[in-house]
Amino acid sequence: MELAELKTQYKLPNHICFIIDGNGRWAKQHHLPRSQGHIKGANKLSKIYKMVREIGIKYVSIYAFSTDNWNRPKEEVDGLMKLFKRAVKEFYDKKKYSDCRIEFLGDLSKFDADIKQSAFDIMEKTKDNTAFHINLCLNYGGREDIVQAVNKLIASGKTQVTMEDISVNLYTHNCPDPDFIVRTSGEHRLSNFMPWQSTYAELYFPKVLWPDFSKKDLIEAIREYSSRDRRFGAIKE
Ligand code: FPP
Repeated sequence: MELAELKTQYKLPNHICFIIDGNGRWAKQHHLPRSQGHIKGANKLSKIYKMVREIGIKYVSIYAFSTDNWNRPKEEVDGLMKLFKRAVKEFYDKKKYSDCRIEFLGDLSKFDADIKQSAFDIMEKTKDNTAFHINLCLNYGGREDIVQAVNKLIASGKTQVTMEDISVNLYTHNCPDPDFIVRTSGEHRLSNFMPWQSTYAELYFPKVLWPDFSKKDLIEAIREYSSRDRRFGAIKE
């Protein structure tokens, strides 16, 4: 099936998110070091952006590195940093991203100066693009995001806040709440991913490991999303 045809048959999410889990297990299955799983997982991302865009979905978010992932062995973290550096460069250089808005969500202050600077440069360079929106969550923690938003509000002199105040101060303020969150590898949890924004998101936990996630899996995910009855706390007449 052509991806562009999906919208004629299925209801589409406006904002889809991927918690890309299972790289380590994929590597183990293939008797490879964990780093190879991450490389394979990173290589999958550009294909996912392309497919999601072809389907006609406007926003995609990737949970690539959480605030807790620094606790992994140094060698693994160093390998991930190399992949982030490569990804940031590709966003900058590749023509296919030239009409996309790219945002890095998370506390970037912990990254090396070159990654940090390039990330800020790309966000600035792409801020007026509207064709497709990619969020890469790096050193991201959902609770940390809420805390930084509240601290910003306190610093601005607020003594009481509204939900709207918090929403517009989160890292995600430039995109709508997620409609659909897909976590690969069969783990059934969100692990501090967008706790504020995900209250009405549909959740989906396919067993496939991230490096194996294919076009077929994406179509299956959309089919699943389309079958869900979203009521947002109301009842159906
Ligand atoms: C989860 O699999 C994956 C991660 C914590 C890191 C994901 C990051 C990348 C694929 C790097 C590329 C990202 C960009 C933005 C280029 P896991 O290691 O927890 O797998 P396991 O649960 O099977 O051990």
